[in-house]
Amino acid sequence: MYNADKVIPGIIILILFFTLPIWLNVGRLEAVPEVELPKEEKKCVESKEFMRREHMKLLDDWRIKVLRENQHVYLSGEGKNFKISLQNTCMKCHENKEKFCDKCHNFVVTHPDCWTCHIAPEVAKKWK
Ligand code: HEC
Ligand code: HEC
Ligand code: HEC
Repeated sequence: MYNADKVIPGIIILILFFTLPIWLNVGRLEAVPEVELPKEEKKCVESKEFMRREHMKLLDDWRIKVLRENQHVYLSGEGKNFKISLQNTCMKCHENKEKFCDKCHNFVVTHPDCWTCHIAPEVAKKWK
């Protein structure tokens, strides 16, 4: 027959090896890196939870509103008006792209191409 003393530890090691990615990810799924938030008492266009989940869709809607519908004002859930602009609204509050947008995006490994055309605040400062 077989040598249980060797086979069973071998199987355990194999199982651990194949489930290693799961163990390494425990606690990571919910974790979000520390990002730099605006210092002044300002509120985002929508709630933090909504923004965390939906900001990509919101930006997409904003782009469509401006480019296809010629609409330049966004009415928030709280009834506040915001000028629709990535550079002049979002980035006026979130004025450090590297410490905000990039920090999360590097973590989840996504690199939206917006900044090949739109100007990040860090770059705008250098031109002044
Ligand atoms: C008037 C200032 C202001 C504007 C404009 C603004 N934000 Fe925010 N944003 C904030 C603040 C303050 C927070 C933190 C929210 C909180 O603590 O409740 C935040 C939170 C967020 C978060 C969640 C961060 C986290 O830690 O989970 C994202 C994502 C975000 N904003 C993206 C955007 C985008 C995209 C836009 C433009 C569509 C935008 N913000 C416009 C002030 C602003
Ligand atoms: C709290 C973390 C966090 C912050 C802060 C954040 N993002 Fe994101 N962003 C994400 C996540 C998570 C995704 C989704 C990645 C995926 O689905 O692959 C994403 C996706 C996006 C996408 C869509 C990317 C694509 O290729 O479809 C855009 C556009 C975007 N973010 C813009 C921004 C901008 C602009 C800022 C800064 C104003 C910002 N995000 C700040 C976490 C964040
Ligand atoms: C190939 C160049 C290009 C790329 C890439 C690009 N945009 Fe734009 N975007 C434009 C131009 C041009 C306008 C029109 C500017 C105007 O009329 O004010 C615009 C307008 C917008 C607007 C509405 C007006 C404003 O001033 O913000 C939003 C929001 C926007 N883009 C978001 C995004 C996001 C988010 C990304 C990345 C996922 C992105 N764009 C990538 C060229 C680009």
